[in-house]
Amino acid sequence: MSNIIECRSLNFDYGEGSTKTSVLKNLNFKIQTNEKIAIIGQSGCGKSTLLNLMAGLDNPFDGEVLINNTNISKLKEHQKTELRAQNLGFVYQFHHLLNDFSSIYNTALPLLINGSDNNEALLKAENILKKVGLENRTNHKPSELSGGERQRVAIARAMITAPACLLADEPTGNLDEKNARDVLDLIIELNNNQSTALLIVTHDLSIANKMERKFDLANGYLSEK
Ligand SMILES: Nc1ncnc2c1ncn2[C@@H]1O[C@H](COP(=O)(O)OP(=O)(O)OP(=O)(O)O)[C@@H](O)[C@H]1O
Ligand SMILES: [Mg+2]
Repeated sequence: MSNIIECRSLNFDYGEGSTKTSVLKNLNFKIQTNEKIAIIGQSGCGKSTLLNLMAGLDNPFDGEVLINNTNISKLKEHQKTELRAQNLGFVYQFHHLLNDFSSIYNTALPLLINGSDNNEALLKAENILKKVGLENRTNHKPSELSGGERQRVAIARAMITAPACLLADEPTGNLDEKNARDVLDLIIELNNNQSTALLIVTHDLSIANKMERKFDLANGYLSEK
């Protein structure tokens, strides 16, 4: 097994002086091929901050993040974007779909950005939308979809590049219980089929219990449960 993401001695603060908030303290973590991991923690403990650091969307004050054994702090912005696009997929709490685009274009977007052929990207998008049960919604825009359907498009978009690791930030936080269960089962199923590592951050224990390993994030420290 190889490391897909590795965090070494990460420290991260927000603010300065009297408003300084120390969010992550000397944090070490790694996720390897095919692993399913949950990071659990209360609102405000730093889960989204940690995911952003892992994806190179933010920079740590100290410490290193390696994606596929490459230290991202040493890379230029476009190299980071490329490394991220080659290795990671994201599902956010709020779907972050583009409102003016239909499901099929939203799903195909990561491939189109990577320079894939247009027709090939749309064909792949159609296939993956079928897998998430949205073959009859390919031409709908986000405003014409239900919350659960939007989240399924977001999952299709995240998985279309067959990333080595899927990072999911409260992917079901915005859904009712049944939709939340369906969406989570779908993530796990796609993850099994594509042999993708999966990191879910959540405050929901029932979601965390479906993962193989669980970590607690509290007071800036990560500990395995
Ligand atoms: N831009 C910012 N400036 C200052 N403080 C911030 C900023 N963003 C986040 N924080 C603080 O950092 C802490 C961690 O925020 P973060 O969003 O990582 O928490 P979280 O665990 O994802 O919470 P939630 O479960 O509510 O999404 C919070 O206390 C928050 O108030
Ligand atoms: Mg958050």
